[in-house]
Amino acid sequence: MTLPTPSLPLRDTARAYGRITRLLHWSIAALMLWQFIGMGLRLALGRTPLVSFFVGSHQQVGTVLFLLIALRLLWSLANRRNRPGHGAGLPGLAARLGHGALYLVMLIVPVAALLRAYGGERGFAPFGFEIFAAQQPPIGWMVGIGDALHGELGWLLLALIAGHVLMVGLHEGMWRDGTLARMAGGRRRAGP
Ligand code: HEM
Repeated sequence: MTLPTPSLPLRDTARAYGRITRLLHWSIAALMLWQFIGMGLRLALGRTPLVSFFVGSHQQVGTVLFLLIALRLLWSLANRRNRPGHGAGLPGLAARLGHGALYLVMLIVPVAALLRAYGGERGFAPFGFEIFAAQQPPIGWMVGIGDALHGELGWLLLALIAGHVLMVGLHEGMWRDGTLARMAGGRRRAGP
């Protein structure tokens, strides 16, 4: 007989991430995957109907991602005293720095694009709602920051995400310390 698993709490605990953090984490992961598949295909194939299928929604999906990432940062601050730790010593420090870099680059990438959209001469209307009117003349430094940072840091973000996934794989395969279960497992496996 299997006992019913108590549901996860909304907030994080010292043993596992709660439901809100998980919802934010996995929805951001899925939308990021969409963005990188589109941009990766564009790089490999140029302009094709398949590429347009993915890339056509890049700005809208990116805007939603920006909102989710901002919420995620606020939620992580609200839970900072009560969430799973990074562990001690050098591995703990490396995990802390890796997560810090992920948060920072994850925020700068859409902010740089939105700054460029704000300063640009085309206006910005994701989902048909005008958020930024067209600038005449364009604001050079805003467009310059977007041009300089968005694409480059976008690929750096992909590298950081790959490192993050690799480290989770190592935790699961070598150390078997239940790291993945903190973000993906049920309460019985992951928490008190
Ligand atoms: C977290 C969200 C986002 C991610 C991960 C992301 C990622 C990327 C990547 C990897 C590229 C390819 C760069 C290259 O071709 O070398 C790109 C290009 C682009 N993105 Fe985003 N992006 C995001 C959000 C946005 C937003 C919010 C906008 C619009 C306001 C936007 C507009 C663009 C545009 C216009 C390009 C083509 C020009 C360029 O390469 O800069 N992106 N993005």
